Amino acid sequence: MRDILPPESARWRRFVAEFADVVGPAGYGQVITPLLEDLGVFTRIGDATDVVTKEMYDFIDKGERHIALRPELTAGVCRAFAQHRPATPWKVWYAGSNFRYEKPQRGRYRQFDQVGIEVLGVDDPYLDVEVISLGWEFYRRLGLQQVTLLINSLGEPEDRARYVAALDTYFGAHIDALSEQSVETLARNPLRVLDSKRAQDAEVIAGAPQIADYLSTAAAEHFAAVLAGLERVGIAFTVDPLLVRGLDYYRRTTFEFRGDTLDSAQNALGGGGRYDGLVEDLGGPATAGIGFAIGVDRTLLACEDEGVFVAPPPVVQVFVVDTVGGLEALALTTELRSAGVSADRAYEGRSMKSQMKSADRSGASFAVIIGSDELAADQVVIRPMRGGGDQFSLPRAQTLGRLVQLCDESGSHTVSPNATKDRSSS
Ligand code: HAM
Repeated sequence: MRDILPPESARWRRFVAEFADVVGPAGYGQVITPLLEDLGVFTRIGDATDVVTKEMYDFIDKGERHIALRPELTAGVCRAFAQHRPATPWKVWYAGSNFRYEKPQRGRYRQFDQVGIEVLGVDDPYLDVEVISLGWEFYRRLGLQQVTLLINSLGEPEDRARYVAALDTYFGAHIDALSEQSVETLARNPLRVLDSKRAQDAEVIAGAPQIADYLSTAAAEHFAAVLAGLERVGIAFTVDPLLVRGLDYYRRTTFEFRGDTLDSAQNALGGGGRYDGLVEDLGGPATAGIGFAIGVDRTLLACEDEGVFVAPPPVVQVFVVDTVGGLEALALTTELRSAGVSADRAYEGRSMKSQMKSADRSGASFAVIIGSDELAADQVVIRPMRGGGDQFSLPRAQTLGRLVQLCDESGSHTVSPNATKDRSSS
């Protein structure tokens, strides 16, 4: 688990804001679900998955309930849907932390964040395209170029069952050539063997039966419509018959966004698919469902690799330099902040020279200087810091209004880019 410190945390917040800006206008509202759920909510993700069998943070609470920290958000969203029964189509987005007891490495953490969307109650293949295209658009907004969309269909549950049986037979016949780990995986879930990235398994996997040959007509038609829709909206994709994803609830369309700059073991920037049946498993009515989740931690690493979505340096608009005890700096920064101007100051009565250094480091567009002469004359000195002309004196009473005007004119950045936006649009 990691600490996210400023300024990285500002990039993080901007990431979520950007995501909301992409999905909000497409009709998605934010849903906030608990970090904890009854363990049973998550066992529906699949009792043959590592996420459920090995990686869950679970415990008995003071009321003797078996509880788990969420390893993902889809199951909780479906539990909420089953409980509240909102009108469909129910289109929601979320952002939040998840917990998996995995082996930590670059891009893989025990607490990690996701942003994502889910839509409940719609079977239309063009919704699959909408969902995928929103993920795609988000990566584009971040500025990422090296992202590949992989897509596959896992068919209806019956198709999947026939395919799993075929895989079982095939891998059983080649068991001597498989790695020890894959032999273990085979006993639990033959589908998961396809996930193996171990070199030893590559040859056997390459010759394995392919799901496309096991799809029912309805599933094949749904998939063909999804691919045609993606082509229509100009999204490039690669059909990957080995894409089975790590969770068991998927039916029909499954997809993954791969970050091509990242190590192959951690290059899934996000992924999702259809999970018709999950709501029913959680006690709700039979309901179609589809969504995706994007890993925040990992996608930000991809942004670093590509040199995009860089954190803006934290900048304030005004820095107040007060060499007469600090009470004026207290008053003026309070007034400025109330007026929506970002402002900072130095503390503990430091020298003029030291405070001016802090003003410079703060990135402020203007320093306001209050020394003993200014205090006596009930004035301040305003000094433009970024080559914006000469310094000048001003009556104290006019300071606030003038600074607001100057900051608006100079378009100087506030600490939060969103604050800038809000101010200019109001
Ligand atoms: P997932 O593939 O397990 O799917 O996770 C989605 C993304 O979360 C991954 O592609 C990855 O970027 C990130 N992620 C997963 N585990 C970690 C980790 N330990 N450390 C850092 N990042 C990680 C789901 O969670 C599904 N709920 C997605 C979904 C939504 N399917 C339908 N709707």
